Amino acid sequence: MTRLMTIMITLAITMTVAVLIPALTQMETAAAEVREDSSAQNEGSCVDCHRDTTPGITATWEISAHGATNVPCTDCHGTDEQAAHDRKHTVDAERCGACHSGALADHRLGSHSKAMDAPGVKAADCTGCHRVAYSCQSCHSSHSTDPDISSRAQTCGACHNSDAPLTRIWASSAHGPLYAARGEPTCVTCHMEGGSHSTGRGMASSLPADKRVEQRGAMVGICTSCHAPATAIRALEDADRLKSQARALMDRARLTLDTKNQPPPHAFEATDAESRLLAAMATAYKAVRMGAYHQNRAVALRALASMQRTLASIKSRAETLERIKALEMRLDNLAARQAKSAGTDSTEALKQDLRALKDSLIKGEVSEEEYQRDKDALLDGAGL
Ligand code: HEC
Ligand code: HEC
Ligand code: HEC
Ligand code: HEC
Ligand code: HEC
Ligand code: HEC
Ligand code: HEC
Ligand code: HEC
Repeated sequence: MTRLMTIMITLAITMTVAVLIPALTQMETAAAEVREDSSAQNEGSCVDCHRDTTPGITATWEISAHGATNVPCTDCHGTDEQAAHDRKHTVDAERCGACHSGALADHRLGSHSKAMDAPGVKAADCTGCHRVAYSCQSCHSSHSTDPDISSRAQTCGACHNSDAPLTRIWASSAHGPLYAARGEPTCVTCHMEGGSHSTGRGMASSLPADKRVEQRGAMVGICTSCHAPATAIRALEDADRLKSQARALMDRARLTLDTKNQPPPHAFEATDAESRLLAAMATAYKAVRMGAYHQNRAVALRALASMQRTLASIKSRAETLERIKALEMRLDNLAARQAKSAGTDSTEALKQDLRALKDSLIKGEVSEEEYQRDKDALLDGAGL
């Protein structure tokens, strides 16, 4: 009995081992296979699930250059599903640059890559446009690689119409109808020649003289694929002249207001009366440049005239501020006098009258002339 049991137990163990060992070996092999293939497996799960959850994105990717060449979701989003699902997850220029090093290197040469360094951008919520620094999809869209999207004027206009309406100015320029009929020249023809990602190329007018020559030469080179060099040079020099006229007006505006502050970078940021006037000036200055360099002289001249009008308002505002300052000084003098002579009813009444008069001026209820006349009358009446 005991021997029989021993034999049976031994047999059972042997059989179990005989069955288990190959099974274990098989499992180990399978596990190794799973490990080896983990990225592909993960990939399958991204696409499989996203075909249902975000069918539009998956379909766009499938017909893109990336879908066609099997660049999987994980190459841009990483293999960590949880990280990819985090709200803060982004796919930035470095990730694209791992495979497109030429485009990234060019992009870094241009001012687009420095857009996040512009003053004030990091503090406020300005990434909508300034993210062009780190986001290649600003022009390419996240999942399509269609060049027809990246090279459309509207793509640039999404950010470049922020002050002066650049795409409209350009569309009604000498080149606008040409673009409408033939698709060229567009923004990319002149600012991203041959698919170059360095938008600073050919931007000469703000550079010091020694660097200007080379960049101007590059732009003229682009024009001469269609024009005679002399025509292009003349047109650009004409634009330079309009720009320096406008810059002189801009400088006068800043000096006149003596507010130390620069105009706000965008009109939508102007708050008080002075910065609104400076912003109007800066926006018109931008329109002069955009019109002049984009063969829309009518826009440039209109904007120049508007700068002159705004400068007149700025001068009158500066005079008003000057008068208010003078009046405040007189009020202070009066207060000092009153303190000395322990205040009589008549000086108190005069102070109130002057304050009321100043308020009317600030509110625009009396004109500059009326104000000056009434103030002199009051002060004369008090023998001051
Ligand atoms: C089981 C289904 C499922 C799987 C597997 C899955 N996802 Fe998702 N994913 C979703 C759903 C659903 C959303 C939308 C979440 C929302 O909008 O709240 C989403 C959102 C995302 C987003 C957008 C996140 C955001 O908030 O901007 C990215 C990127 C993403 N998935 C990438 C991946 C990648 C990469 C993988 C594979 C590693 C993956 N997903 C696997 C279901 C899945
Ligand atoms: C070539 C790179 C690339 C590939 C490949 C790629 N994506 Fe994206 N994806 C992006 C970029 C760039 C964004 C925008 C992220 C950001 O805002 O920084 C994005 C955003 C997303 C979003 C959220 C955006 C929205 O509009 O809702 C989802 C979801 C997403 N991807 C899913 C996928 C899935 C699923 C795949 C594979 C089928 C995939 N992606 C393949 C680059 C890629
Ligand atoms: C893992 C490598 C890889 C990554 C990462 C990657 N790409 Fe690509 N990309 C490719 C390949 C491969 C092609 C197709 C072959 C080619 O055209 O170079 C391609 C093609 C393209 C094209 C079309 C080129 C053409 O001539 O039609 C664009 C545009 C593009 N990628 C942009 C991006 C952007 C933007 C990102 C980041 C959001 C990105 N790629 C990330 C590998 C990658
Ligand atoms: C609608 C798009 C858009 C938004 C939003 C935006 N910007 Fe800009 N910004 C631009 C463009 C485009 C330029 C380049 C100049 C031009 O052509 O108008 C620019 C230029 C600038 C410049 C001058 C460039 C430099 O390097 O000095 C500053 C400063 C600036 N922006 C600050 C800001 C701040 C601060 C905010 C947020 C309060 C902001 N921007 C929001 C589009 C935008
Ligand atoms: C200002 C808009 C803009 C930005 C930002 C941008 N691109 Fe492009 N990209 C374009 C245009 C326009 C083309 C040319 C399309 C055409 O006509 O073929 C292009 C072409 C490409 C091509 C195909 C030609 C080539 O050079 O191989 C790739 C790849 C590419 N871009 C990758 C990137 C990457 C990576 C980034 C980010 C570092 C980026 N792009 C940022 C507008 C942009
Ligand atoms: C025919 C060539 C050409 C075309 C097309 C063109 N540009 Fe320009 N652009 C120029 C020149 C030239 C300058 C001035 C260069 C300089 O300052 O020396 C300029 C200047 C600019 C500036 C800087 C202006 C400033 O002074 O702040 C921006 C931004 C710009 N262009 C964007 C665009 C956009 C967006 C489009 C399409 C809607 C476009 N351009 C179409 C040639 C062109
Ligand atoms: C997502 C927003 C965005 C898009 C889209 C965009 N830009 Fe810009 N661009 C900017 C900002 C912001 C600046 C100013 C950067 C700075 O000076 O800090 C700028 C600057 C420029 C400049 C001035 C370059 C220099 O060095 O002086 C040119 C030219 C330009 N962009 C052309 C283009 C063209 C062409 C396109 C379309 C193919 C385009 N941009 C698309 C945001 C954008
Ligand atoms: C893709 C071709 C092409 C490019 C590039 C191009 N132009 Fe033009 N441009 C034309 C055509 C075509 C006209 C229509 C009048 C004509 O045929 O001369 C025109 C008209 C003009 C006009 C108006 C001429 C007039 O008689 O009213 C000016 C000025 C001008 N271009 C300057 C430039 C400058 C400066 C550049 C470079 C920054 C440039 N163009 C780039 C094709 C081009």
